[in-house]
This record gives sequence, structure tokens and C-alpha cells, in this order.
Amino acid sequence: MNCKMNIKGGIRLKGTVTTQGAKNAALPILASALLLKDKTLKLRRVPNLRDIKTMADLLATLGVNVSYSGHEMILEVPSELCWETPANLVRKMRASSLVLGPLVARCGKAVMPLPGGCSIGSRPIDLHLKGLSRMGATIELDHGAVHASAKGLKGCRIYLDFPSVGATENLLMAAVFAKGETLLENVAREPEISNLISTLNLMGARIEERPTGEILVQGVDELDSASATIIPDRIEACTYLLAGVITGGEVKVTDLNINHVDALIAKLEEAGVPLSITGNSVTVHPLNKIKAVSLKTLPFPGFPTDLQPQIMATLSLADGTSIIQESVFESRFRHISELNKMGASIEVQGHTAIIKGVRELVGADVVATDLRAGASLILAGLAACDETNIFNLGHVWRGYENIDGKLRELGGEVSILPVDIIESKVNGVTPEGGD
Ligand code: UD1
Repeated sequence: MNCKMNIKGGIRLKGTVTTQGAKNAALPILASALLLKDKTLKLRRVPNLRDIKTMADLLATLGVNVSYSGHEMILEVPSELCWETPANLVRKMRASSLVLGPLVARCGKAVMPLPGGCSIGSRPIDLHLKGLSRMGATIELDHGAVHASAKGLKGCRIYLDFPSVGATENLLMAAVFAKGETLLENVAREPEISNLISTLNLMGARIEERPTGEILVQGVDELDSASATIIPDRIEACTYLLAGVITGGEVKVTDLNINHVDALIAKLEEAGVPLSITGNSVTVHPLNKIKAVSLKTLPFPGFPTDLQPQIMATLSLADGTSIIQESVFESRFRHISELNKMGASIEVQGHTAIIKGVRELVGADVVATDLRAGASLILAGLAACDETNIFNLGHVWRGYENIDGKLRELGGEVSILPVDIIESKVNGVTPEGGD
């Protein structure tokens, strides 16, 4: 059913939220199960999200027996796997491309339709393919699909032209069975990659993250059953902290890893937000107006692009003018026109957004164009006077488990309502995509 989120804004949120397992850690870890043969991977703290369901469906079509109960998932992998991935699932989610490396390593071949562009800009997988061919795979593009094959991958040195998260994950999974040593240089250093590496090592892989940033993989012959835990979702945790800030409320987020949220904490401190940090919890305390701050999105440990739309909503109410430079994705500013409909004053110049703080936001009918754009509009709606309706909510379910319930627990007046045909036509429905 097509739904919208209705928010009666202007309420200061107050209370505690527990962080879910990280979507972006769970997705590659699920894909890594494909490296097993007649073995089982048990996972704890798997968030209940649409993207996780898409990956589970993809694995099931390849032959994996997936069972999911609460936040535990069991992946039983047979000796024979199918190596052709269905277009409908790959096109639904870019992260489906994470099965490519494991399939080539395990089956010696894979056919995968190109994931294509999405609503946050063109997102090629050239670095994934270049790395696989360095390891000895033959890559051909035919009728919009990648055909990869290899008679045993071989270890080598691979330098990524950009520290792509997905390419790092795909290549390190492909390298697990490659003969000899694979040295991956200029790789992404996101915490989700460390979670993947520790899970693979629990399965018997030999992967070392060097303090200097490179990843060294010593090829092994096979992997074993294992049981692992997904790390906390830093983007979800930070979204709730910002929900506290934008409403001038008091929100405590528990079960997060403080070291993973440094970039946001630093910016909140700069903006004058009173914070307290204890163990694995962060609390933001009430403040009427934050100071404007400027930032640039960068690969980890820089400020995450997946938090850019949410902090932009928050800064739209700051005292002064903030500048945000988006350096990871070419067009991740589609939330701006929607925020401006709510009274924000944001101007785009190339990859830079200039956010002039306004006195108040006003509720409106707005459309989520991707997952984090949706989160940004929810934050704006919580702070705005009057009612906000957020359409295209499917994007939000891809990454936030029970977001309406969690916001209600904090005192937010949030409800999910069906969308009627007229509303749906007026507001438009775009295909799902994004991070
Ligand atoms: C992952 C995250 C996503 C996050 C992004 C950046 C998952 C499931 N998704 O996406 O939430 O926003 O990291 O932190 O973990 N690029 C190329 N060629 C390639 C690969 C990437 O040009 O072969 C470019 C992309 O177009 C983009 C940039 O590199 O502009 C970053 O992409 P990448 O780090 O690969 O992001 P994803 O792994 O897709």
C-alpha cells in the first residue's frame, strides 16, 4: 500500500532511542554468505528493513536458504549456487552489486544486470569491474548485463581511484579465495567494512586492515560456518540525535559506537549543542537556536554523505548561514526544493548548498526522493509548525526500522496514513533508489 507520513510538528522530542543494526554493514555481510559451501552463517542484530529483505530475496533466488526471526538471520548455503542475478532485484537496490565479487570467487562466474543510475546521481561500478579484471576475471558487458568469469582469481595489487565503499567490499570478498596475496590500496575505511572483514575472518578468511589504510588478503581454500553481530547503525543513530536538536528537545541515543559518530559530534559541538556522552550513549540537551556551521561530505572518517540531507534540514533553522559541500555524490541535493517548500532558504551552486537560517519552518506536502532525503524531510516536519505530509515513504522504510514508532516514543505526533489516488497523482511517485 502507498503510504504517507503525517507529522504534527513543533513538539520538543524527549526520551531514549535504541540504535538498530547497521543496514550498510548487514548488506555486504549477507552477500558474503555466498562464499560458503554447505555451511551456515548466523547473524545477530540484523535490522528489519526493506533493503535487507531485497538482499535476502536475492540470496534466496541464488539458492541460499534464508530464515529471519526477530533480528536474527540464518543463511544456509548449499554446495551448488545459481550465478545469474535477476534484473528486478538488482535494479531495486544498488547494493545488489555486492554479490558480484563473492559469486565470481565461489562459482567462477556471474551474470548481473548493471544497477544503473539512481536518484542520487549516476553511480557506476567501474572500480568493482576494474579490480575484478586485475584479479584475472574476464568481464564482458552484453545487453546491459555484466558477464564475469574466472578460472580461479589470483592475488594482486589493486589501487582504487576513489575509496568506494562498494568496490572495497566487493573486491575484498572476491580476494578471499584468490591465490596468494591481494593488496587493496586507497580503500574505503568505513566502519561497516571492518564489520565485514571481522565476519569473514570469523569464517576463516585471512584479512588484515593495516593501520596505514591498506587491506591485505591472503587467499584461503574454503570458509567455515560462523556466527557474527552487525554493528550499530551510525546514520540512524545520528538521525535521531538531529531529531532532538532540530526540535530543541532532549534525546538520548543508546547502543551506538561513539567512535563512529565523531564527525557529527564535532559539528554539533561547533554549533553549540549541549551534549553528554556516556559509554555507548549520546544525549543532546535542549537548545533554542543552533549556530550555523559549514561542512564537506567525505569518505569516513569525514562527514558522511548519508547524513548530509538530515544536517541540512537542521541547519535550515540555525542562526546564520551554513555552507555544505557534497563531494561524494554528484547530485544529492534533491531534498532542497522540498525543504524550501517548507520555508527553508537554501540555494544550490554546483556541488555546494548555501543555507540561510530561517526563523521557522512551515508544514507542507513534500516528496521523499531517496532514503536520506526522506529522513531530512521528517526532521523538518518534526520542527515545522502545522502539519507535514511526506509522500514516497517507501524510500524511508529501506533504511529506518519502525521510524514512526520510535518518533512516537519520543513524543512526536507521527502517523502513517494511506495515500489516496488524487494525492498520489499530485505528489508523484518516483522509483526507489538512493543509498
Ligand atoms: C555506500 C553506501 C551508501 C553511501 C556510500 C558513500 C552501502 C550499501 N551504501 O554506497 O549509503 O552513501 O557508500 O558513503 O553501503 N563510484 C564510481 N565508480 C565505482 C564505484 C563508485 O565512480 O565503481 C563513485 C559513485 O558514483 C559515488 C562515489 O564513488 O559518486 C561513492 O560511491 P561508493 O563509495 O561506491 O558508494 P556505494 O558503495 O554505492
